[in-house]
Order: sequence, then structure tokens, then C-alpha cells
Amino acid sequence: MRLSLRFVLPLLLVLAGIAYAIAPLVDQLTLKWFVRDLDIRAALIANTIQEPLQEQLAAGKKAKIGAFFARITQDERLYAVGYCATDQSVALASRALPAEILCSDLTRWELPGDHLLASSQGPLHVAVKPMANELSPTGKLVLIHDMSFVTRRSEETKRYVFFFFMALAAVVSLITVVIAQLSWRGWLAGMRSLLRGEGLLRDPAAAAKMGMPEFRPIARDLQRLVRELESEHRARDESQITWTPDALRAILHGELRGDDVIVVSNREPYIHQRRGDRIEVQRPASGLVTALEPIMRACSGTWIAHGSGSADRDVVDRHDRVGVPPEKPAYQIRRVWLSAEEEAGYYYGFANEGLWPLCHIAHVRPVFRSSDWAHYVAVNRKFAKAVVSESRTRNPIVLVQDYHLALLPRMIHEELPNATVITFWHIPWPNPEAFAICPWRQEILAGLLGSSILGFHTQFHCNNFVDTVDRFMEARVDRENFTVTFRGKSTAVRRYPISVDWPPAAEVLEKPAEQCAADVRNLNTLPAGHRICIGIDRLDYTKGILERFRAVERLLELNPEWIGRFSLIQIAAPTRSSIDEYQSHEAQVRALAVRINERFGRGGRDLPLPILLKVEHHDAQQVYEYYRGADCCFVSSLHDGMNLVAKEFVAARDDERGVLILSQFTGAARELPEALIVNPYDTDQCAAALHLALSMPAAEQRDRMRLMRGLVAEFNVYRWAGRMLLDAASMRQRSHLVEAGGGPA
Ligand code: F6P
Repeated sequence: MRLSLRFVLPLLLVLAGIAYAIAPLVDQLTLKWFVRDLDIRAALIANTIQEPLQEQLAAGKKAKIGAFFARITQDERLYAVGYCATDQSVALASRALPAEILCSDLTRWELPGDHLLASSQGPLHVAVKPMANELSPTGKLVLIHDMSFVTRRSEETKRYVFFFFMALAAVVSLITVVIAQLSWRGWLAGMRSLLRGEGLLRDPAAAAKMGMPEFRPIARDLQRLVRELESEHRARDESQITWTPDALRAILHGELRGDDVIVVSNREPYIHQRRGDRIEVQRPASGLVTALEPIMRACSGTWIAHGSGSADRDVVDRHDRVGVPPEKPAYQIRRVWLSAEEEAGYYYGFANEGLWPLCHIAHVRPVFRSSDWAHYVAVNRKFAKAVVSESRTRNPIVLVQDYHLALLPRMIHEELPNATVITFWHIPWPNPEAFAICPWRQEILAGLLGSSILGFHTQFHCNNFVDTVDRFMEARVDRENFTVTFRGKSTAVRRYPISVDWPPAAEVLEKPAEQCAADVRNLNTLPAGHRICIGIDRLDYTKGILERFRAVERLLELNPEWIGRFSLIQIAAPTRSSIDEYQSHEAQVRALAVRINERFGRGGRDLPLPILLKVEHHDAQQVYEYYRGADCCFVSSLHDGMNLVAKEFVAARDDERGVLILSQFTGAARELPEALIVNPYDTDQCAAALHLALSMPAAEQRDRMRLMRGLVAEFNVYRWAGRMLLDAASMRQRSHLVEAGGGPA
């Protein structure tokens, strides 16, 4: 309707303008016609009255002539009739001729022209016709017509012209509005369909059914344009933003208008542990926590997680919430309580004995038990309930983390269909053949496809996921846009490489690198100048700790000059220790360290040990001291989604020193090619990399480190989260647009 008014009003104005502009032309034209008519009429009258008038004149009966003229001028248009016998005489006339008409001055009315006279009686037309007779051979008849009817007619004509144009405008408008409405409906339907991602071009049948195949090419172009604009907008925004906690807050309050943000993960960022009669707060060794914690500090949302600490229940309020960080609360943890059986089945069992080895190609067989699966389903449902109860609105943004909660996205979607669920899978996604081992593969996939956005660290993992869906699900896979539509829900599969806080917190960089180097050596009773490589991991079989030890052994075999001059300090945070595979892995790691130390260790001499194994938890401050004090950092994962130790080491080295040795099987290797990239299964290559790292000149260390620091600075963890939130924001804006258009979102 608004569109119609917008169109019709200007049209009416334009046509009224045209009518107004052409009115004078119409006037001139009609005047010309009337003058010509009156000329003809005057000639006719003159001819008609010639004979009787000649008779009267011949008879010399002036009174009769006057009466004759008076009779003729009863005609409403004939104003006056006169007769001039000579140019000296006074005219005989029906009534007083206008003062301008003199017998002596008739010649001017005989010349060609319009013969119009603007007299005090109004506009008049003057015609002079020769009326010779025997008495007056130069006699002339003067016929004066009243022209006021021309003005009346002109007004009438103008009125008609105006009404004609208005009627024309109305007809044109009506036709145009009808056509526009029909087309607009078509367009709207097309646009809605496009915005819903149905895509006319991808569904030609739908376009044909809508009776508008002509829209297909336009739809295609439009769709491409929208996508280009979106990605351009994002790319531009991304590169223009300085990614800090403030930038993230600005996105939340600007693009997302302060919408509800909820993070859900199994692992909690702060664990309250009872030590005697004291309560201690522990930070878990978890890449997930490392990445998300700064985000939550910036966003002040709610983080739902398993309350696993021995004192966790003692510190929560009656809603199971506790503010963290303890020293200055910035957000809330909402704790979910699990029984020992649930934890055993869901966390140790299905998640870590099933999915973990399934997704990591680390040659450990996955174990799938139906009892574990039952717990996994039940615990996922428990988390879903917690999400619903923590949502302040019907459309929160929920960030679901990792393989523990694969069913959660669909469960949330069922309860809160307008929620935007962003799921991030922190571990690798295997190829379809490997994934097919899982007896509940379809349930896992269906669960994940409840997400609006599903993120992986690398494009390779995105590809594997989409291939897996294509193989096992009745879903529509769009490889051009990397979206999967399953049971009417579309999921965008995207690559978001995770990262670390940049710059790192001031307190972990406080101590100068040289001081850290000295302190690390003192702490481990190593001499000054002793060369140190560090390994910092959870004690997990995917981390390649055994392979790292073998590389050290090979280094000392091949380059004995390093014996007693070099040590690998391995910090191994205990993890999942109730799982058999982890227990046996720990035993193997300990045994190998002992064997290598015996082989290259003191042996009667007072030499430092080649491997210093520390199976214990270290806090961030201590870990950064090792990062900053070491000569090199060795990351030898057999398979790893990203590996944040690599990025943390780079972030810690503001002195631009230190060498990173990095497994080619980590996501990080794709972003940090300036590291020494190795195959952890190739022991000789790893030994050579160790030797190279220990002998690398300072200038080369600086050049490599600078490039790596540039990347981590530019692609920090705020950018990781910001990109997901920006994508969620444009998704939400798009669905608002569709809703505003009246269509289903
Ligand atoms: O790498 C996978 C992962 O879940 C990470 O996201 C997390 O950092 C790590 O494992 C910790 O595992 P858990 O929570 O079992 O200690």
C-alpha cells in the first residue's frame, strides 16, 4: 500500500503539471479556430444580408435599416452591425459601435490578422465586408462578434483537459499498481525463499511452481550479491577491528543488541577443591577453558558446566551459581551435578573412551558401551534443561563446546527453536569410514545438526564432517555454501581456528625472560646456560609424549655433544586417570623417561638428566615461566584439533627468542609454518629438529618468532569468538528480515 502511494502520488503530480503546462497552448489553438470560424460566419452574414440591405439603402430608409440591424443582432454572438457609406460618414449601426471602430479607420480591419479588439465591453471580433451600391460605391459593412464566449469555452476546455489527465493518471496508476502488486508478491516470495536459503535456483521446481522462472537468473545474482556483501562486510569488519575484549563487548552490545549469551561445556573454568579445611580454586589444564575464559570475562554471560570439584557444592548459591573469577567476579558459572555413574558413563565412557579415540587417529581403539550411551543421552538432556532454565529470553545465543555435548544442540533447538546455537567441536573430525565405527553415528550427527553454526578448527575437518553427513544422513548438503539442511533446520559448517589471549595477561609477562630462564634452571637444579626444551600437555596419548622422548633419545645418540648439556622438561598434567588407557599410557611415559635417563644420565658422573618429567598440575604463572625461560618448545601431538600450547609459547616470547617444534598433525601447523614442522612418528626427523632448534642463531629465531607472533596477534581468541558472534548476528538479522517480510524464519 505504501509502495502504491509512493508511486501514484508522484504520477498524479506529474500529470497535473503536464495539464497545467499545455493549457495555454490549448487556449491559443482554440482561439485561432474561433477567429477563423467568425471570419467565415461574418462572410456568410454579409452575403446573406447583402440583398435586403442594398434595397433598404437604395430606399434610404435609415429607420428601417436600424430595425433590420437590430433584428440581426438578436443572434447572441453578433454584438453589433454597422454600415459606413463612406469613410467620412458616421456609421449606421444596430447599437453604438465601440469607440475604436470609425468609418475613417476601417482599412486596418481589412488587412490580414486576427481582427480582435479588446474593448471595454470585453473581447470582440471585427469583420469588415465591402457593401457597394449605386449611392455609395465604397460602402462597407461592419460585423462585430462578441468573443466572451471564447473565454468561457477556453475555461471549459481547460477543465476538460485537466479532468482528462486526471482520469488518465487514475487509469495508468491503477494498472501500474495492479501489475506492481502482482510482481512484488512474486518478488517477496522469491526473496523470502532466498533468505530462507531455499534458493530458487537450487530448487527449480519450486521456482516453476511459483510460476516465475524468469526470476531464476535474478535470484541467482541476488543471492550471490547478498553473500558477497555479507562476506565482504565481515572481512572488512574483521580486518578493521582491533580484536580486544572491548571489541567483543562492542559486538555483543551493538550487533547482538546485548542478547543473552550462554556457554555450555563439560569442563568448568574454575574448580573449587577441598584441601583439609581450606577451599582451593584450581584452573584446569584445558585448551577449551584457556580460549573461552577471556571471552566470558568480556561478555559477562553464564557458563554452564559440570561441577566436578570436591568443594564445588559448598560455594554455589541456591540456583547452583557462583561468580568468577573469585577475586573479581565478571560472570557466572552455573554448575550441573552428575552422579558418579553418570560421570563414568558419559564423561569417562562414551566421551573419552568412545568419541575421543574415534576422532583422534592415535591408534587407540574406541570403546562403545550401550550403558555409556544411555548416560551420555541423559547427561546431555540434563545440560539442555540447565540451558532452558538459564535463558532469560526465548532466543538466547548458546555456545556449545565439544564432543561431550553432541546431542545438546538439537535438544536446545527443540525447546528453544529461536535460539542461535553455535557449536564448536574442539577435536578433529575423522573421515566417514572412521566415524562409521560409532554405533550411534546418526544420533550424534542429528544432534549436531540442531546447531545454527557448527565450527571446526580446520577446513579439512569441515570437509570430513560434511562428507560424513552426506554418507549417513538424509540431509541436503550444499557444498558451495557449506550448509547442511536436516529436518528443516539449516546448519552452517564453518572453520574458526581457535587461538589465545593477545596480549597475554600482564602478570604472566611480568618477569623478564632472562630472569625466567635463570629461575627455571635454578628450580630444576640445572646449571646456567644448560639448554632446555619444554613439553607442556595433559598426560594424554594423543599428545605424542612417548614420541617426543624417543626423539630426545635419538638426538643424544646422533649428537652426543648434547649429553649433559640439554634437557627436555616435560610438564604432564594428570588427566582422565580413571581410564585404563590413560593409566597404561602414564606408566609407559614414566618408564620411557626412566630408561632414557638411565642411558644418558649421570652414570657415576654429575650430569643433568635428559628428561625431567613432572606429572603434576601447574598454574598459568608457572607455565609461562617455563615458556619464557626455555630455548625451545616441542609440540608432538599425533593428532590435535589446534593445540594452544604452540600459540601460548609464541605469545609468551616477547623477547622474540625460542624455537617452536610443531607436529604436522596439529591445526596450529597450518597457521604457524615458521615453526620447525615435524612428523612425530619420524624419530630421526624430530631429533634433527631438536638439534636445529638448539643450534639456531638468535637472528633466525627472531625472524621466525616475529612472523609467528604477528599471526597470533592478528588472529587472537577474541577474533575467534568475534567471527562466530558476527556470523550469528548476521544470521539473526537475516531471520528478523524474513519474519518482518511475513514469512517463516
Ligand atoms: O582438546 C579437547 C578437549 O576437550 C579440550 O577442549 C580440552 O582442552 C581438553 O580436551 C581437556 O579435557 P578434559 O576436560 O577431559 O580434561
